[in-house]
Amino acid sequence: MCGIIGYTGPAQALDVLLAGLATLEYRGYDSAGVVVVDDAQAPALQVRKRQGKLSVLSGELSTEGLTGRTGLGHTRWATHGAPNDRNAHPHVSDDGAVAVIHNGIIENHAPLRAELTAAGHSFSSETDTEVVVQLVAAARAADPSLDLAAAVRLVVPRLEGAFSLAFVDRREPEVIVATRREAPLVLGRSQGSSLLASDIAGLLVHTREVEALLDGQVAVLTPRGVTVTDLDGAPAQGHRFTVDWDVAAAEKQGYEHFMRKEIHEQPTAVRETLLARTDAEGVLILDELRLDPAEFRAVDTVVIVACGTSFHAGMVAKYAIEHWAGIPVEVEIASEFRYRDPILSPHTLVVAVSQSGETADTLAAAAHAQEQRAKVVAVTNVVGSSLARRADAVLYTRAGPEIGVAGTKTFTTQIVALDVLALYLAQSRRALFPDECADHLARMEALPELIEQVLQCEPQVAELAQVFARSGYVMFVGRHVGLPIALEGALKLKEISYLHAEGFAAGEMKHGPIALIEPGGPVVALATRGHVRSKIVSNIAEVKARGAVVLAIATEGDTEIKEHADHVVYVPEVHELLYPILTVVPLQLLAYAMAVALDRDVDQPRNLAKTVTVE
Ligand code: AGP
Repeated sequence: MCGIIGYTGPAQALDVLLAGLATLEYRGYDSAGVVVVDDAQAPALQVRKRQGKLSVLSGELSTEGLTGRTGLGHTRWATHGAPNDRNAHPHVSDDGAVAVIHNGIIENHAPLRAELTAAGHSFSSETDTEVVVQLVAAARAADPSLDLAAAVRLVVPRLEGAFSLAFVDRREPEVIVATRREAPLVLGRSQGSSLLASDIAGLLVHTREVEALLDGQVAVLTPRGVTVTDLDGAPAQGHRFTVDWDVAAAEKQGYEHFMRKEIHEQPTAVRETLLARTDAEGVLILDELRLDPAEFRAVDTVVIVACGTSFHAGMVAKYAIEHWAGIPVEVEIASEFRYRDPILSPHTLVVAVSQSGETADTLAAAAHAQEQRAKVVAVTNVVGSSLARRADAVLYTRAGPEIGVAGTKTFTTQIVALDVLALYLAQSRRALFPDECADHLARMEALPELIEQVLQCEPQVAELAQVFARSGYVMFVGRHVGLPIALEGALKLKEISYLHAEGFAAGEMKHGPIALIEPGGPVVALATRGHVRSKIVSNIAEVKARGAVVLAIATEGDTEIKEHADHVVYVPEVHELLYPILTVVPLQLLAYAMAVALDRDVDQPRNLAKTVTVE
């Protein structure tokens, strides 16, 4: 959700903060703000914040400038209070001494606000965040012997909810204090400076050696170093790791949008995700395995939990796990799973899928599963993320940083990673012979080349997008592994074009959704070769009979499909279970081209954020 950056060191903080915020803006972009501590004789907090994108704020600051070597920056994804200047972060205590930036939600903000108001404090925003800074300032006022870190340690136990918080105090002009609970915060050191960010991307330009702060820890950053303690002040250590992404991967490199770049990076991302998946004996291996292989052998049920696009990847994986490993699979939206009483056992394997590894609902679902003694495997793109740390085993998608809000390369690599997991389960349970596993892996290794071929359809899809963009809706239909791709195609389109788009099981059309078809209305049908192809052809006929204009995604060589559909985009022939990795590509391109045709903000669509760290 919100982006957080902090810097204290020898350079002018404002430059570092604005550059850092530019790399984090994809997390939220309702408003942006900075606080820079003026380190002159009488230090003061200089706060500037503006509704709208970062460019509004940086435009203003380019003429004004703020001098000082310690500061915080924030991009907001509004939860409490409208996205306006007043509610933008940083928030400053009413005595003007302390400033805070926050990602997350303070759930008990209302009683805390009432308590502070009764004590005579005045508030200048509608946010939940402001209570935190008032509490910290009040703690210091009540006990002047407390430094900022001590005051933060005192206040954190009073807060309910999930948060990462960073503070500066004009009385300690070189110090930043940060803490977290169930929301990400990473720390780094570079050239005599200390930095923090809500996301690795914010630190990449400075360092690849990072320390993820853990729940209930407090970090004190000064130019001389970073110290971490627990809430009692006892020394502690976060999770230290090296990031293997490079800075160039987080830049547009000549593409007009990150999304288009990331769609085109899929061959490389899939190739990387498949690299070194077997040992010298050809046995499949996972990235981080904190489970006894015997526990994998004993798995009798798989439950996949995820949100959004990751949920669709989980839906695709169900077919592969059931087919290859012979294990029943349930796929559930994490925000639903976390609030029910699932019947799990130590033999249930819960697979939590999250590109960011920080999605609040998916993390809570994983914790819920572990409480019921189930083992959790994480499939994530971010090394050292909260989910990776929590899980009993991890399989990384090696997609590199994904900046566009719409997931593309993380989706295809999630399917690939989940297919590897399916083979791993099949291997553990001896459901497939080793040579069968090797054959499937070899087929997957051909995918990058095949995705390259599919990407060639971009001009054809872009032309169609001009026509489809004129209609008020698009329907997507599929069966079997085509169904999750229909859902994903619709999600992609709605999130970046704001058009009404829905995906349906093609067989369900006649049970209701077909009533939506209007003459000329576009329907995209996943119609590749496989055991349901003839069924989907019948469904195409049904919508055509009601006047729909049909775009079929079909297998190369299937010339007969042209008799049924108005337009056809071909993908190369693959094993039936692998089609999703190819068929989603034209749908990503279609959503992208339609959003561009409609002049939408492709990488930062309205109301959305890349990492959803609130419930
Ligand atoms: C993808 O296009 C969406 N922006 C969104 O649905 C996303 O997949 C979802 O929020 C889950 O995120 P995660 O994979 O980081 O957990």
